[in-house]
Formats: sequence, structure tokens, C-alpha cells
Amino acid sequence: MTTPESNDFARDVKKGLSSNPKYLQSKYFYDSEGDKLFQKIMGLSEYYLTDCEFEIIHQHREKLLEAFTGKGQNFLLVELGAGDGLKTKLMLRYFLNHKAHFAYLPNDISPNVLNILKHEMSRDLPGLELRAYPGDYFHALDTMNQKEKGRKVILFLGSTIGNFNFEQAVAFLKELNNRMQKDDQLLIGFDLKKDPHIILRAYNDPSGITARFNLNLLKRINKELDGTFTLENFYHYPIYNPLTGETRSFLISRMAQNVRIGYLDETFDFKMGEPISMEISQKYDNAMIRELAEESGFALEANFYDSRKYFVDSLWIKRE
Ligand code: AVI
Repeated sequence: MTTPESNDFARDVKKGLSSNPKYLQSKYFYDSEGDKLFQKIMGLSEYYLTDCEFEIIHQHREKLLEAFTGKGQNFLLVELGAGDGLKTKLMLRYFLNHKAHFAYLPNDISPNVLNILKHEMSRDLPGLELRAYPGDYFHALDTMNQKEKGRKVILFLGSTIGNFNFEQAVAFLKELNNRMQKDDQLLIGFDLKKDPHIILRAYNDPSGITARFNLNLLKRINKELDGTFTLENFYHYPIYNPLTGETRSFLISRMAQNVRIGYLDETFDFKMGEPISMEISQKYDNAMIRELAEESGFALEANFYDSRKYFVDSLWIKRE
């Protein structure tokens, strides 16, 4: 029997809802319902990020291969949080057609997602050398470091780094850097600062999918922790600050209300209009990207942009 203390989700929910201001961690968005909603978000016309990265990989595939093979012909192409691998498939197909010498090592927290990916990749890309590494990023990299020999090119796509604030991003990237060898490379996706209306629309789609994505975390608490959230009593409220590049989303309580969470044996009070801070999606500019690379032990080698310069895949190399 798990106790509240031994269950990370329960512990973090308790901590977040007991804080002032209240918060929940966006890493818990991704239960099976959350995964499906995020897939839908990626298909929304307002959520430009996915299309931009497709365009970048398509337009720059030749330059990417040149850059990945610049330090020696063979490489291990590691993908952190590979998901459905759709964007990467574009790259892999080109690399295979051009007889590149590499193995593809996808990682994902979900073994199920990785099995589907493996199946689809072997069906669509025969000849691809693929070895899957399930689990969290650092566990997967530690296992890879024991089992694999060769220079690594790590893909960390999709603006996932934006879900950390700057200090958390530096700490995360230092941990990543510690698991790399000199001359290993990292291709990392950043959503760029731009017209605030465009950014805000991406996080406030009129069809309400992003609102459901946020509210789904309350649903998850109800399901897994015996909570009593009434979803209609909260609404989704995103903001973008063009000075800092921070997009933030909140769930706002429509009324004064109490929510009991049975698993924690606790009741939480909400005032009318009180926010729960849900997610940060940091937008970057070139100076911030360079600073992040330098502070975490990398040198910036090249930037690959889409035609509108909405997004960049930035190629870094481990300094020493
Ligand atoms: C996963 N992550 C990069 C997405 C983002 O843009 O921050 C999650 C998301 N939140 C709302 N829409 C999409």
C-alpha cells in the first residue's frame, strides 16, 4: 500500500495546493488523457510550434547531417522524450537515404509509447538501427552510457525546455552535460519571442483544447487521489509577458469553495478569483539562448530557424 509520502504525485499536489500562491506541476499533465489532449494541441492551427519545427527539420536536413557528422562519421542519435517521433522520422529518412552511419536511440518515459514508435519506425524505415531506452531522461542516459559506445548527438525538441524557468533549465542542462562526452552535441528546440497575440492564441485556442488540457490535471487528482474538484468551477487563464518572454497559465476559481482530497485526508480552501499556477512556457531570444548554453557548459555551434523565425533548433557542443 502506498502512503501519501511515498507517492510523488500526491506529495507534490499536497505541497502545491498548500503553498501561497497555489501551484501544480505541469509535468503531471501527461496521463493517458493528457497525452491525447497534447496530441490534439499539436494539431491546432493556433499552436504554430509543431509546424515550425517540421519546417526546420525539412528545410535544414542536409545541413543537420553535415553538422552531426562534422566531428566524425559515426554517431548515436539519441532522442529524449521521443513521443510519436514524427518530426524525427523526416530526419531519419533523409539520413538513411544518404547512407549516414548512425543508430537511433529513442527515449520516452512511457514504454508503451516506445513500443509503438519501434513498431512504426521498423515498418516505415527498414534498415534503421534502433535501440529504445524507456524511463526518465537521466536514467535512460546513464543506461546508454553503460551499454553504448560512440559519439552522441542528443535531440531535445519541441520547446520542452520552455517548461522550466531559467534557473531550472540551467540545472537540467548541467545534469545533461554531465552525462555527455567532449564533442557530443545537443540539438535543442526553443520557441522564440514574437508578436504577443500570436503566442497568446497558441495557449488560448478558441476550441478550448488547451483549457481542457489544464483542467485535466484536476480530473487526474479526482481520479487518482480521490479528489472532489468540480471542473466547471475553474477556468483557464493564460498570460504572456513580452518583457520576460514568460507565458504562464492559471486555473482560476470561479467562487469561494472547498476541495477535499481523500488520499491526502485534507481539504483545500479557494477564494473567489484565486489562481492555481499551472504551467510556464518560456519564450527565448538569441541572447538568452547563448547565455543558457554558456552557463550549462556548452558552446553554440549553429541556429536553424523556420522561415518566419518563430522557432529555433539550436545546435550546441559540449565544451570540455
Ligand atoms: C510540452 N510543452 C512544450 C508545451 C508548451 O508549449 O509549453 C505544453 C503545452 N501547454 C499548453 N499547450 C502546450
